Amino acid sequence: MASLRLTHQINNPAAEFPATRRRRTPSHGVSRQRVGFRVFAEAAAAAEPDLSVAVNGLKMPNPFVIGSGPPGTNYTVMKRAFDEGWGAVIAKTVSLDAAKVVNVTPRYARLRAGVNGSAKGQIIGWENIELISDRPLETMLKEFKQLKEEYPDRILIASIMEEYNKAAWEELIDRVEQTGIDAIEINFSCPHGMPERKMGAAVGQDCALLEEVCGWINAKATVPVWAKMTPNITDITEPARISLQTGCEGVAAINTIMSVMGINLDTLRPEPCVEGYSTPGGYSSKAVHPIALAKVMSIAKMMKNEFNDKDYSLSAIGGVETGADAAEFLLLGANTVQVCTGVMMHGYGLVKTLCSELQDFMRKHNFSSIEDFRGASLEYFTTHTDLVRRQREAIQERKAIKKGLQSDKEWTGDGFVKESESMVSN
Ligand SMILES: Cc1cc2nc3c(=O)[nH]c(=O)nc-3n(C[C@H](O)[C@H](O)[C@H](O)COP(=O)(O)O)c2cc1C
Repeated sequence: MASLRLTHQINNPAAEFPATRRRRTPSHGVSRQRVGFRVFAEAAAAAEPDLSVAVNGLKMPNPFVIGSGPPGTNYTVMKRAFDEGWGAVIAKTVSLDAAKVVNVTPRYARLRAGVNGSAKGQIIGWENIELISDRPLETMLKEFKQLKEEYPDRILIASIMEEYNKAAWEELIDRVEQTGIDAIEINFSCPHGMPERKMGAAVGQDCALLEEVCGWINAKATVPVWAKMTPNITDITEPARISLQTGCEGVAAINTIMSVMGINLDTLRPEPCVEGYSTPGGYSSKAVHPIALAKVMSIAKMMKNEFNDKDYSLSAIGGVETGADAAEFLLLGANTVQVCTGVMMHGYGLVKTLCSELQDFMRKHNFSSIEDFRGASLEYFTTHTDLVRRQREAIQERKAIKKGLQSDKEWTGDGFVKESESMVSN
């Protein structure tokens, strides 16, 4: 069971782990500034809203994390993400035997907001039928190691997936941990291709299987583990709860939504079309953001009610392209915000816009840190029955307040227009 407390892990990382499952000490992120420099930094921090976050003992300069996918697929692009200032990088999902992963092209299809999907319309939806990494594990591991050597104080998270085989999971965890990565995200959520091998969403959609596999993983892992959830399930809180109960430190949501992008009305073939055929894929980008907000809200409520919010983390994903999109996830209780398709569309420099837009939002509300507003909107979600009760009560209250001035004596010069309006019937 995950028993670490956030603050304790930062100061004394090993203190609360059971001897049988000791998580690795995050050694980075501790300030070693000279005194004069610190005074300067503190003054600057007072003026600028602080975007830094500490999640499961991992310190990040900002909450923006590269989501697993093409933007974390090799050394060159992950290095670019660190150089541009992303808070953390989650690499493309790896498995033991990349030879079993065979991709096809085209594997993406996009939905545009223009009339009849006009080619000029803004891209709002993105479908992919891409599998996990098809690069040899050995190559990916070498690159993780190199990145950690070159960027020891930056957070690199390995995303992993394996077949229903305890020894395979143990070997994969062991091998990725040897590279020095800071945490592991478990891909229990890929909706296409992998479920046919009892991988990805096949595990995330089956709570009994998930419990068993999470048990194996958490008995073995020595770094924090996040379980990445599929939205393609009736109640996403069920697998999220099991992941936390069986020892994961965090939950990430959502992976892509099962989709068919469309049918070509000239050829009558589905898109994306590979040799005349297609298969349902995963939907992402702006169009999934409202769905992701609902899923993240449900998980955040469950975590708040059933788990100590401080001990566990929530990484929100889905359709983030602006600081405002990210602020919404943080207001629901997310600790970090992942971006995948947004980077594919706008490039790695997007993080600078995300940071400055999030700071604009914080300045507007006088928030000096993410913790000042994290989860602030969660309490305003309730049941429909409760909405009906609240509305009935509010109407009764409004009816009880007598409209208008009681006598001509009450007219004032300053409030004259408002006073006139208060006695209008429509
Ligand atoms: C082309 C593509 C490939 C992806 N590959 C992976 C993957 O290997 N592992 C994974 O966990 N998620 C993968 N994802 C899912 C994303 O990490 C993310 O959960 C999803 O796309 C929603 O976020 P977004 O709207 O910011 O893209 C992929 C997404 C896309 C678009």
